[in-house]
Amino acid sequence: MEPLLQIRGLKVYFYTDEGVVHAVDGVDLDVMRGETLCVVGESGCGKSTLAYSILRLVRPPGRIVEGSILFDGVDLVKLSEEELNKIRGRRISMIFQDPTSALNPVFTVGYQVYEAIELHQRVKGDEAWKRVMSMLRRVGIPSPEVRYRDYPHQFSGGQRQRIMLAIALSCHPDLLIADEPTTNLDVTIQAQVLHLIKQLKEELGMTVMLITHDMGIVAMMADRVAVMYAGKIVEVAPVLDIYEKPLHPYTQALIKAIPLPHVDVEELQPIPGEVPSLLEPPPGCRFHPRCPYAMDVCRREEPPMIDLGEGHQVACWLHAKR
Ligand SMILES: Nc1ncnc2c1ncn2[C@@H]1O[C@H](COP(=O)(O)OP(=O)(O)OP(=O)(O)O)[C@@H](O)[C@H]1O
Ligand code: SF4
Ligand SMILES: [Mg+2]
Repeated sequence: MEPLLQIRGLKVYFYTDEGVVHAVDGVDLDVMRGETLCVVGESGCGKSTLAYSILRLVRPPGRIVEGSILFDGVDLVKLSEEELNKIRGRRISMIFQDPTSALNPVFTVGYQVYEAIELHQRVKGDEAWKRVMSMLRRVGIPSPEVRYRDYPHQFSGGQRQRIMLAIALSCHPDLLIADEPTTNLDVTIQAQVLHLIKQLKEELGMTVMLITHDMGIVAMMADRVAVMYAGKIVEVAPVLDIYEKPLHPYTQALIKAIPLPHVDVEELQPIPGEVPSLLEPPPGCRFHPRCPYAMDVCRREEPPMIDLGEGHQVACWLHAKR
């Protein structure tokens, strides 16, 4: 498999009154054609900032400071806004963490899906409307021939999320970036939306980058997993390896914190401590203040990303040959 997206040395900082927030701080990451890559990590690790920077949607006080994002060989960081608009929503679609902000409250839902189809599939009138109905039906909106005239506020949160998905998929993107697409949905609807993403991915041959902090979703969706901690990628591996032989102490802690049906809540082991402030991240390995294996070198020097073969990479001094 070759990469569709190649992120190299990416740094995205927010220049706030309190100081510089190092939200994404030197990220290298590949997304292979046709795969689902899950990016996981606790709240505040920089996952959304990473996703937003791919489409250059990071707004002031944030900006991309360094690095490149090659999409099909073209560096998105260097494109003009005009060139980028040809890629946004056409070759790369994004579903946002908060669907309410992404739907326009003053237009009907049908019109918003129609617009996407007209623009990207280059069809108009009856044919386009037929596709609107079919898409709304696909994402599980009941009676689309009646509901297409309704406005976003007349739908539930789960339905709005599915409408967003309909819009994102109407353009048959090569890459779908889904940022926590099922937060705030109840479990049944969550499973439906995820299943739908999976199904449409197969049908349309899409590549998916899925962002989540839920290891259950990772197990259901991912081919490969990238674990993000405090602005950096700390481990990348095929999904089975992440569960069966996680190597980074942070990944191990994430796995131990997964609620399982046969394990009492009391037995869960929450990760001690919290994600550090990205205003002044800890020196050396950013996980060292929370790591049970921290050594002197960890407090001084940043661990390099070590390639262990078979697609497994880890940034931890425990695995470095010195
Ligand atoms: N507009 C902004 N201005 C200042 N700081 C920001 C801004 N947006 C994000 N940040 C900071 O950047 C860091 C990364 O945030 P980001 O939203 O990317 O995390 P995340 O991993 O997506 O978290 P979550 O799981 O809660 O969505 C955090 O420290 C956050 O406070
Ligand atoms: S580099 Fe050191 S502190 Fe960081 S995860 Fe590995 S052992 Fe822990
Ligand atoms: Mg986020």
